[in-house]
Amino acid sequence: MIVQQSNFNSLLAITNRPPVVMVEGHGSWLIDSDGKRYLDFIQGWAVNCLGHTPSLLVEAVNRQAARLFNPSPAFYNDQAIRLANLLTEHSCLDRVFFTNCGAEANEGAIKLARKWGSLYKHGAYEIITMDNSFHGRTLATMSASGKPKWKELFEPKVPGFIQVPFNDLAAVAAAVSEHTVAIMVEPIQGEAGVIPATKEFLHGLRQLADKENLLLILDEVQTGMGRTGTLFAYQQAEAEPDIMTLGKGIGGGVPLAAVLAKEMISCFEPGDQGGTYNGNPLMTAVGVSVMEAMLESSFFRKVQENGEFLRKQLEELSRHHGLGVVRGSGMLLALLLPTPIASTIAEQAFEQGLIINAPRPDVLRFMPALNVSREEIETCITILGEVLTRCK
Ligand SMILES: Cc1ncc(COP(=O)(O)O)c(C=O)c1O
Repeated sequence: MIVQQSNFNSLLAITNRPPVVMVEGHGSWLIDSDGKRYLDFIQGWAVNCLGHTPSLLVEAVNRQAARLFNPSPAFYNDQAIRLANLLTEHSCLDRVFFTNCGAEANEGAIKLARKWGSLYKHGAYEIITMDNSFHGRTLATMSASGKPKWKELFEPKVPGFIQVPFNDLAAVAAAVSEHTVAIMVEPIQGEAGVIPATKEFLHGLRQLADKENLLLILDEVQTGMGRTGTLFAYQQAEAEPDIMTLGKGIGGGVPLAAVLAKEMISCFEPGDQGGTYNGNPLMTAVGVSVMEAMLESSFFRKVQENGEFLRKQLEELSRHHGLGVVRGSGMLLALLLPTPIASTIAEQAFEQGLIINAPRPDVLRFMPALNVSREEIETCITILGEVLTRCK
């Protein structure tokens, strides 16, 4: 297929993209219109949890496409019910609202917390969020996010968010006022450069929320659905959320996300929340297949083992090239660099057929398919090693 520059120009420019067009993907491999193959260790920003076009999900889409796309959110549908049941059976939450992306899920979480505050906490509405956090690109979720570059963007922002330093329990406690309704946090700050919340911090937030009658909202859009080696990251800390948001991996690549809440928080009334596509069976049928794949007995053991393998390989590479630490868990890992050359490395890796990204000038991030093979991990390390040698 011949792709001309003028073809790109009919798309609204929202990010810098390399001048290639992706046309196909299978497992860990993405293929452009010239037939060049790329080993994909980003997978649509941690979205394709089972790799590109896995046959299981292709079958789920086809099966459901032949039955029913969307009966309207005014009706129950069997796939949304199945997926909601699977999620509530395997988490500490009781109710699910499906959305189309992570930002919309967080928007729903914010609305639910505010509704709860208006009903049960004398109109409390403020949500404490973290410096450098990322919760999405709607106006409210940009307002909630602690990304420094967004401070002056799209003013005036949605009021009611207070940012405090991440992993600083005393700062969170000091920010609580009579207006506070919730604390919102990512178990690992992915976009900030894969910075894990400490177990003490998450556990402390849970205790603080209990003491002050606040809701704990965990944004597991990036960390949930097996990414960190367990179905949800909160399962590795003593910090059960009152509200949890999921996205990315839940749809295995199709637009699906969710807000989950404890029964006592589930206070939306008819008309408060909804949307044309929310919980449509075409997407939720895929979500059911993703969940079923993850619930196979050895799924998480393999994610943990292969995640450890990737970590060790990255640590070895780091030692060899004099780089920094590897942080994160499961299949959400970052390699720290001593100088701000991450974008250059990511660009050169792309040239060599490896997709990784640079969430910070000195951080490389790795989010392969959860079922990536050891051979593919070794290939990633070989290509990255060659690029690093050349960049010295
Ligand atoms: C923690 C977190 N929350 C929310 C979002 C937004 O999700 P989406 O891009 O699906 O709206 C992201 C996306 O990267 C994320 O990492």
